[in-house]
Parts: sequence; C-alpha cells; structure tokens
Amino acid sequence: MTVTGGDDAIYAINLRSRIAGRVLLRLASFPAKSFGALENGIASIRFGGRLDKRAPLAVRVSCHRSKLYHTKAVAERVHGKLGAPPAPVSHLDEDDAPPPTLLVRVDHDVCTVSLDTSGAHLHKRGYRLATAKAPIRETLAAALLAAADYDGSVPFVDPMCGAGTIVIEAALIACRKAPGMTRRFAFESWQAFDPKLWRELRDAARREERRAIVPIAAADRDSGAIEATRANAARAGVPVESAIQPLSRSVPTAASGLVLANPPYGARIGDASHLRDLYATLGNLARGPFDAWTFGFVTTDPKLARAAGEGFSTPYPPMAHGGLKIRLWLKRPS
Ligand SMILES: C[S@@+](CC[C@H](N)C(=O)[O-])C[C@H]1O[C@@H](n2cnc3c(N)ncnc32)[C@H](O)[C@@H]1O
Repeated sequence: MTVTGGDDAIYAINLRSRIAGRVLLRLASFPAKSFGALENGIASIRFGGRLDKRAPLAVRVSCHRSKLYHTKAVAERVHGKLGAPPAPVSHLDEDDAPPPTLLVRVDHDVCTVSLDTSGAHLHKRGYRLATAKAPIRETLAAALLAAADYDGSVPFVDPMCGAGTIVIEAALIACRKAPGMTRRFAFESWQAFDPKLWRELRDAARREERRAIVPIAAADRDSGAIEATRANAARAGVPVESAIQPLSRSVPTAASGLVLANPPYGARIGDASHLRDLYATLGNLARGPFDAWTFGFVTTDPKLARAAGEGFSTPYPPMAHGGLKIRLWLKRPS
C-alpha cells in the first residue's frame, strides 16, 4: 500500500498500524541501465537528515529483468556514492535491531530506492517475550481480526490461545491502544528526528486509550500456554481473562461476540483423525452454544476445515504464515 505524507505520517503509521510489516520511505525512482546512471540517480537523492553517512548502512539490493543484474556490484556502487560504511545485510525481518537499511530494487531497468523507517519488523510490538507452540505473528493476528470485522465493541474469545497473540491483539483493539507504543523505531535515530512531534503523536494516541468495555477471554488446555498468555498480556498492559480448559468445555461469556481460534494443523502422521475430531468440535460449538456469535478459525488444510461442518465460508484469499498459507473460515451468527 502506498500513502503520501510527511514525517508525521511516517511516525503515525509506525505507531498505529496493526497490520503493516514495515514502513518504507520511497526516496527516488529513476531509469538505470548502467552503473553510471545508477550512480547519478543515487547522487541526486536528498535524504533530508534521514541518513547519517558516518554510521554503517545496510544496502539490500534486488535485481529483476534488468541490465544491472549483479546485486553485490550494485550495492558497492551505492555505498561508494553515499560514502556510508557498509553494515552486514542481515535478514531484515528477523533482526531485533537491524542497522539503518536502504532498499534498492532494480526492475526492468528502473531503480527504486527506499529507506526503512521501522527497524525491527512491526510484528515485534515488544510484549510477546513468552512463547508457546506455533505462535502467529502479531500483525497476522491483527489482520485476521480485521477480516472478521473486530472493532473491540463486542466480547472476544480465543479457546486455543497458545501464547495469546490473537487475544492480546483483540484486547489492544478493545482498549484502543496503539500497537507501537512500547517499542523503538529506526526513524528515532535520524538526525532529522523531531522528538516534539513524536511526543505529540504518542500523547494523542495515549489519550484515545480506554478500558475494555467487553470481556476479552482466552483458554488453552495447556498450562504453559496460559502462563505465557498471562505474562504477555501483562506486558502489553491489557486485561485478558484466561483459563486452562479444553476446547470442548468452552461456554459463551455473553449473548454474542467473536470467537477466533488458531488450532493445530497437524503436520505429523497419525494426527489426522484426532484433528478431524478437534475441528468437528469447533463446528459443533459454532452451531451450538456459540450460534449467536461470529465464529472463526484458521487452517492450512481445507479437509480439516470441512470437518467443522456446515455454515462456514472462507471469504478471503490465503494469508502467509511462516512458510505456510492459512485461510480464515468464518461462520456468521444465524
Ligand atoms: C497453533 S497453537 C495457537 C497459537 C496461538 N495463536 C499463538 O499465536 O500463540 C494451538 C494451541 O491449541 C491448543 N490446543 C490444542 N488442542 C486443544 C484442545 N483440545 N483444547 C484446548 N486447546 C487446545 C494447544 O495447546 C496450542 O496452544
């Protein structure tokens, strides 16, 4: 997604976006069929105090269907022109504290240069230090909640919560807490960083916070998962009611609301019939005690989704979850 704006937009999107993975500042786009054209284009970029040329800089290059195809040579020319010492190019999205990073994409002989403004991937909100089995990214959890139209005004239940990612994202929405409130961003180390503007944006976001007006609840049959959920929710500063409880014992906490679960998908042989039973239980709950709720779950496997039975549809394209593709299955209240 592309938006136009100044530093206030850069700060605010990083602070408030629940779903974006990172915010890149597009600096330039120019034809580059030769190293000369590349160097001229790089030399013409105005960074406006957003790059400290004495600090190590990582330059990530991709080349696609272009005369300039050697990514290392492109990176060397960019470094040579900017004069910033090279930093090792790590896996940007895995690194907790990546160096300032310039992204250079050469595609069909057009070079596009962007500066990373986020630093660590935006799913790293800072609260999830305790983990359980197969957690999903915070940004993916927030995307699933948005796909189920969750706005924090109705009760929420995750009956298989693991480390609590989905339920904590639901609670952050219910409390109107900006997800980036407790972490740092790459733009904070720019020479042109405006601490006053940043303080004002954070203060404005803080003024919007409120106590959750609906119950936000989580359960898991595993005590370690519930411990992790409690510790993570405390760090996020949100109220989550949690209980050690098997799925089959789930009961509604109110007349209506949203259930959203990320059950196991089962890669291991021998899991199949046990998992079919688990998904059948999800379906029975959705058509039984939770009939007046919106009821959703995600899975990689359409056969497992079908084991949940009637009433579910999958309105959105698959979403990437690590190396997997998951789909959201939803049953609206009848
Ligand atoms: C894929 S993990 C959930 C990950 C979670 N969304 C997160 O991001 O941390 C699935 C969870 O379902 C729980 N689970 C599996 N079978 C269950 C059952 N019958 N009742 C309750 N929880 C169950 C597991 O203990 C595990 O924590």
